[in-house]
Amino acid sequence: VHHHLEESIRPYIDLIDTLRSVGIQKDLALPTIVVIGDQSSGKSSVLEALSGIALPRGSGIVTRCPLELSKRPRLSYEEKIIEFGDPSLVEKHVEEAQNELAGKGVKICDDLITLEVRSADVCDLTLIDLPGIARVPVQGQPQDIGNQIKRLIMKFIEKQETINMVVVPCNTDIATTEALRMAQEVDPEGIRTLAILTKPDLIDRGTEKNILAVVQNKVIPLRKGYVMVKCRGQQQIDEKIPLVEATQIERDFFQNHDFFRPLLDENKATVKCLAIKLTQDLVSHIKKSLPKLDEQIKKQLWDVRNELKECEAGPPQDLKGAKQFLIKILTKFNDKIKSLSFGELIIKDN
Ligand code: GDP
Ligand code: NA
Ligand code: MG
Repeated sequence: VHHHLEESIRPYIDLIDTLRSVGIQKDLALPTIVVIGDQSSGKSSVLEALSGIALPRGSGIVTRCPLELSKRPRLSYEEKIIEFGDPSLVEKHVEEAQNELAGKGVKICDDLITLEVRSADVCDLTLIDLPGIARVPVQGQPQDIGNQIKRLIMKFIEKQETINMVVVPCNTDIATTEALRMAQEVDPEGIRTLAILTKPDLIDRGTEKNILAVVQNKVIPLRKGYVMVKCRGQQQIDEKIPLVEATQIERDFFQNHDFFRPLLDENKATVKCLAIKLTQDLVSHIKKSLPKLDEQIKKQLWDVRNELKECEAGPPQDLKGAKQFLIKILTKFNDKIKSLSFGELIIKDN
């Protein structure tokens, strides 16, 4: 996504890269982008187009655990880490991790799978893929699967620092989309809800004008509006059409479309346009966070200086005072060690 960045926002992204190299990620929570929608609406397809990393997709329930795609190293504990260098193995490893966490089959699970991407070409956004909303349980799924999935989605979308991308296929009734209703519930002002319309190539003939009105924000107005994208269909996936080629196919599709062509000039179509919109959101978030970050750093510096002052005098001269001083220092040290070694069980599997 890096090459999509406009020059105006480049300095902010570079700044964050520099700050990260000194460990700033502990203090600055960057927004997380979550995709929600019905099963097979195209959530994983949108994420893979944005990230350039092929994810498991297909018909039926494919995404069964929340999957986090991130450039940043995670700070919380990991139970198992698998390192691999070949991006084409992502699908296989994610599927294996899902089988391990949720069991083989069709069940879902709340445990997060983290995919840490070490590449200069990946933008600094954390993307989370979630299982899609299913209404009717399939063989092997519990009766309340619909509610289980909705509860899981809620856990992610209610957080104030997430941007919720609601994925809706063009060939369904947008007004009755459950995911959109959920996003509006947690974000009534619509400040962090963006709608993505997928599968414009599968649209029912005669409904083009209605869909165009939706994208142009004239039907169900959303503050952040809509973006229409065309991702790889099942046939293109089976034919192994590379993502780069898919980008060109997408562009041609819109350019040759009688109804949707104007969306290109209105910045309301293509994955590239979506990437720019999201990056702009990230930049405005960084801009807003900088003063607070500055404040936090000053406070930390002040605290550390005070702590240092306490040590300056050394231990008290009397035995009792010296003992207490030593216990205090040792307890602090012990707590630090504990927090550092928490969950350090790392299994390397190359
Ligand atoms: P998810 O269940 O919401 O994650 O959906 P997926 O990303 O797995 O996609 C479901 C199916 O829809 C896959 O077969 C995709 O190839 C297909 N698909 C996704 N986006 C598009 C699109 O824009 N056009 C077409 N024709 N198919 C799409
Ligand atoms: Na699917
Ligand atoms: Mg999926």
